[in-house]
Amino acid sequence: MSVTLKLATSLDGRIATASGESRWITGAESREQVHRLRAAHSAVVIGVETALADDPELTVRLPGYAGRQPARVVLDSRQRLRPDCKLVATAREIPTYVVATGAPDPTLVAAGVRVLMVPSVGGERPELKSVVQALGGEGLSDLFVEGGGQVGGSFLRCGLVDAIEWFRAPIVIGGEGRPGVGALAVAALAQAPHFRRVEVGVLGDDLWERYARG
Ligand SMILES: NC(=O)c1ccc[n+]([C@@H]2O[C@H](COP(=O)([O-])OP(=O)(O)OC[C@H]3O[C@@H](n4cnc5c(N)ncnc54)[C@H](OP(=O)(O)O)[C@@H]3O)[C@@H](O)[C@H]2O)c1
Repeated sequence: MSVTLKLATSLDGRIATASGESRWITGAESREQVHRLRAAHSAVVIGVETALADDPELTVRLPGYAGRQPARVVLDSRQRLRPDCKLVATAREIPTYVVATGAPDPTLVAAGVRVLMVPSVGGERPELKSVVQALGGEGLSDLFVEGGGQVGGSFLRCGLVDAIEWFRAPIVIGGEGRPGVGALAVAALAQAPHFRRVEVGVLGDDLWERYARG
């Protein structure tokens, strides 16, 4: 199993303004590279807040691309995903999973969404190590986590992130903006997840950094 975390942020590590506006922080070249990275993974993973805010498709859209589409996975304990969103509307064409803690919502199931029930931590969210195992059981062994900050933070906190693809745009959003990485409960620097930079590139106006677990 491998987990890659993607971050598309401002210089100060924000993924959206306070109101949730995030399109588009990074430029066209970065977004194209994100599509290439999607194509190289078996599944794209997001949190339900990103699904609700952005109504994304999470598909590979590259000129001339006719290859396989990655599965889409929404971490959504309470199945709040809207039945009229793009992910649900295309669930019959592209494998689409909701990872929840309760019994599958019949509306989502009828639309072709595969609801995976995963035991919760403290009665709330699915336990991430079990999520990764359950997805592995579906043949989804390399995950591309596209956020948002809460989900990225959870993967980091559980020590599950093997690599980071960081796209950094030359803007500053400020402290009210949504953080690219949610709370990690780091009490001392020695406890902070460590990574080593393995590649740096320039994509239009953006900087692209690739990190591996340190
Ligand atoms: N710049 C970018 O590239 C980018 C990328 C993605 C998102 N965004 C922006 O980020 C914002 C959304 O990010 P966000 O941080 O607020 O939310 P998020 O990470 O997208 O979703 C968080 C939600 O996912 C559910 N969840 C289920 N399991 C979880 C787990 N183990 N850990 C954390 N959450 C889990 C929780 O809802 P339940 O408790 O109900 O399950 C939680 O409230 C939007 O404004 C979006 O536009 C920007």
